[in-house]
Amino acid sequence: MPFPDLVEDAVPASTVVIGNGVARTPYAASSFFNISGMSFGALSVPAVLALSKGAKKAGIWMNTGEGGLSPYHLQGGADIVFQIGTAKYGVRDEHGKLSDDKLREIAAHEQVRMFEIKMSQGAKPGKGGILPGNKVNAEIAAIRGIPEGQDSISPNGHPEIRNVGDLLDMVNHVREVTGKPVGFKIVLGAYGWLND
Ligand SMILES: Cc1cc2nc3c(=O)[nH]c(=O)nc-3n(C[C@H](O)[C@H](O)[C@H](O)COP(=O)(O)O)c2cc1C
Repeated sequence: MPFPDLVEDAVPASTVVIGNGVARTPYAASSFFNISGMSFGALSVPAVLALSKGAKKAGIWMNTGEGGLSPYHLQGGADIVFQIGTAKYGVRDEHGKLSDDKLREIAAHEQVRMFEIKMSQGAKPGKGGILPGNKVNAEIAAIRGIPEGQDSISPNGHPEIRNVGDLLDMVNHVREVTGKPVGFKIVLGAYGWLND
C-alpha cells in the first residue's frame, strides 16, 4: 500500500469545538495538527500559498503570525487563525492602537475562524522586533497598515496588557467585536502569577 494511504488510515479525524456558548461563531477545529504562526514577510508568497493549500487539504488551520492577513492565506482555502501581535499589524489604527473597524473587516472573512493575541514568542524572550524599512515594500505596508519603506517596531508587549485582568479584558473585547473564539500565545518562565 502506498505510504500516503497508510498515513491517512493511521490518523483518525479529530475535532474540538472552540468557543461554544461564548463566541457567536464557535469553530470545530482540528485537535491534532495545525500550523503555528509564521508571518507573511518572514514567509514568501509561495510558502504562504503552499501552507494554506496543504492546510485546506488536511482539514487543519493555519495561523497568520503577526504579519497580517494576505490574499495568499485566503487563496489557498485554509481556515485561518488571525494573530494580533504587539504591533497589531493588520488591525491597527494610524497611531498603532487596536482598531475595532479593522477587526470587523478581518472577521468578515468566513475563512478567519479564530483570533490569537500574541503576548510573546520563545525565539524572542523579553524582546520586541524590528522590521527594517528595506523589507517594508508596498504590499507588506498595505497588509500590515504601516508606512512603506520605514522601519517598524514591534514592542516587547501590548502596552494595554499589564496583568491577567487586562489580558482577559482584551480577549473578551476581541471576542465581542469579532464574534469569533479568541486565545492567546505566551511564553511562560513561571506560572504562579496566573493564580493571583
Ligand atoms: C519563519 C518563521 C516566522 C515566525 N513568525 C511568527 C510570528 O509572526 N508570530 C509568532 O507568534 N511566532 C512566529 N514564529 C514562531 C512559530 O510560531 C513557533 O512558535 C516556533 O517556530 C516554535 O515552534 P516549533 O518548535 O514547532 O518551530 C515564526 C517562526 C518561523 C520559523
